[in-house]
Amino acid sequence: MKLVKLIANLGYGSRKDVALMFREGRITDPDGEVLYADDKVSPEHIRIDDEPLDPPAGLALMMNKPLGATCSRKDQGRVVYDLLPPRYRLRDPALSTVGRLDRDTSGLLLFTDDGALLHRIISPRANVAKVYEATLAHDLRGDEGELFASGSMMLESETEPLAPAELEVLGPRLARLTLTEGRYHQVRRMFAAVGNHVEALTRVSVGALTLGDLAPGKWRALDPDDITRIFAGPASP
Ligand code: URA
Repeated sequence: MKLVKLIANLGYGSRKDVALMFREGRITDPDGEVLYADDKVSPEHIRIDDEPLDPPAGLALMMNKPLGATCSRKDQGRVVYDLLPPRYRLRDPALSTVGRLDRDTSGLLLFTDDGALLHRIISPRANVAKVYEATLAHDLRGDEGELFASGSMMLESETEPLAPAELEVLGPRLARLTLTEGRYHQVRRMFAAVGNHVEALTRVSVGALTLGDLAPGKWRALDPDDITRIFAGPASP
């Protein structure tokens, strides 16, 4: 791909803007040598205003989603994309969330511009375990685990039963739920179906990938080991 297109696709500006950046000598190699639009260089050897180029297409990120931000692009309020560098909104291919977390759900949220990777993570067939911790309004009854694990639980207005899910009771009103699918408001609707109400919800892991020490609102790029971790368990129910 031509350098102007590559850099424009990373959100640095229109092709015209990027062509101007070349003419202004703002695009260099790591030694500060000015690059020209028709040079053949790999992206890791490009500097813009002395800064390394953003990661090329094939990007995957994780964020510790804070409460109050939505995963929508169009929402008028606070959106998760506001927490990324503004250029990341302008990338082509577009960077999108891997599934969604509700505005009132916090925790591990993935982003990628790689459609095949996105599909591999969210496809129920891939069996990637998504683990949630839920704080409940009422004490657990004791029979929820069996129902959630049954593979025959139906949610209102759905035509397919839920895949088996694993419930771990952490306290009278605290539970960890492992899902391998991602239906709309699934955790909240599952607990509502057993007469409870989720007061707080956070996603703690996707596969074997956890938040580690990533603070709320912070994000980092995923490396190939992180991607391997997503598909490496924990064992699905
Ligand atoms: N289930 C929910 O109810 N909400 C989320 O954000 C994720 C899973």
